[in-house]
Amino acid sequence: MNYLVDLNIIFDYYNNERRELFAESVSTLDMLWNENNTNLYISSSSLDKLEFTKAQELKREFGYASKIILKNFIKEILSKFKIAKTPSYLDLDYEDIEDSQIIASAKAIDAKVITRDIKMLEKYPNETIHPSQITNHQSQTTNIDFANLQKQYFMYQSELELEMDKVLNNASYIMGDAVTELEKNLEEFTGAKYAITCSNGTDALLLAMMALDIKPGDEVITTPFTFIATAETIAFLGATPVFVDIDEKTYNIDPSKIEAAITPKTKAIIPVSLYGQPADMDALEQLKIKHPKLKIIIDGAQSFGSIYKGKTDSNLGDISTTSFFPAKPLGCFGDGGAVFTNNEELANKIKSLRLHGQSKRYHHKYIGMGGRLDTLQAAVLNVKLKHYPKDLALRQEVAQKYTKALGSEVSTSPKNTILPTVANNCTSAWAQYSVRVKNRDEVQAKLKEAGIPTAVHYPMPLHLQECFLYLGYKKGNFPISEIVADEIMSLPMNPYVKDEEIEYIAREF
Ligand SMILES: Cc1ncc(COP(=O)(O)O)c(C=O)c1O
Repeated sequence: MNYLVDLNIIFDYYNNERRELFAESVSTLDMLWNENNTNLYISSSSLDKLEFTKAQELKREFGYASKIILKNFIKEILSKFKIAKTPSYLDLDYEDIEDSQIIASAKAIDAKVITRDIKMLEKYPNETIHPSQITNHQSQTTNIDFANLQKQYFMYQSELELEMDKVLNNASYIMGDAVTELEKNLEEFTGAKYAITCSNGTDALLLAMMALDIKPGDEVITTPFTFIATAETIAFLGATPVFVDIDEKTYNIDPSKIEAAITPKTKAIIPVSLYGQPADMDALEQLKIKHPKLKIIIDGAQSFGSIYKGKTDSNLGDISTTSFFPAKPLGCFGDGGAVFTNNEELANKIKSLRLHGQSKRYHHKYIGMGGRLDTLQAAVLNVKLKHYPKDLALRQEVAQKYTKALGSEVSTSPKNTILPTVANNCTSAWAQYSVRVKNRDEVQAKLKEAGIPTAVHYPMPLHLQECFLYLGYKKGNFPISEIVADEIMSLPMNPYVKDEEIEYIAREF
């Protein structure tokens, strides 16, 4: 929830005489500062007046306005409130220019203006709220957020706005500087020699397979317990997805079952780092020793930043891919993805493939695709990547707290809940915190009633999907994937899930 706070409320809070007279302004701000999902703004159009009014107040009190006191006051305000800028689509009211600027700033950030100004409250009833109304308003909106994307935006808003404005102002929308910079930053972060950004995680998989010449007649082994994109892209290239069941603990492909699925047509294996945890890469590398022509493409759409034996999973396999879909651990503000490899030849081919297979302008060596990442998304990712280690650590903390809280709750309950397991040699990026419950519908309904959102990733394994019926699989072919699909349920997961929320979720479970 966003609120833009009018100056009268701010001065009620910071002026000793007014604090007593307008106690509801004080209690409202104190309450909102403690709310997890509440963001407080001041309009950029009010900053001048903020300084002027404070100077007047100081002059009245001390006979002069100390520059140091003034500066510290403004600094204090800016540490508590974000600045909401006046948008260019402002609907200016010439009778009251300042009020119309404040309302426009609030609309731009989807906020209500908290004010005691009667004229403003009457003129803009839908855009304003009196502090006395806030308690009610809040109590209706205490639901826990699943991915909390708004908070992620709020945390780094000014840095994000700056970088996005740069792109908009110099109009370098396609393959601008931010893209080159991001690729360099991604290489540094992941340790992979080459990072090639692209339009999304699905196209990243396509580019990886196209670079390896996967074509009709080829077979590619993967897991049936994943998002459709993993197998859809194999089929899209005319190759055949061959499914292998998952490990019961990690939900990743079970390497011990792969050998039986390998045929002379097998070109590649796509392990998926489901929910953020890399697959058993040692076992897969062992298979490669026995079958040296096999390539490994890691679908790391959910696991950016996860570590397997000291290396990120973008730095493993022949090629690794990821997605920057907004709800992914590192998400942009639309679609985005990347392909990683340590092989220069593959990297050059992938770069060409994402630009319609071109070798130089209007000269096309391969059949490729329009698979570039927008400069605007790259600008967003450059900012978010800088803060990502902190976000990853917070996700890790949230997961540990869930396990602790749920562990103690479920041991005393008869619900038979299975908590996530992360293998000893790796870390998870915790794209999801997913538990297994036998009575999923019932638990989901109960949690929903308590304001706790849940999701199911994924309710139907791919071998049973209508689009893959032609492959000839049947129910019972992959029993572990089928059981897990029936029981799995993801709880709210993002860096900002509060301790009280985790405890509440564990209690309501
Ligand atoms: C395992 C997996 N692979 C691929 C993708 C596709 O990524 P995108 O949505 O960016 O195309 C996703 C996205 O949800 C995913 O979870």
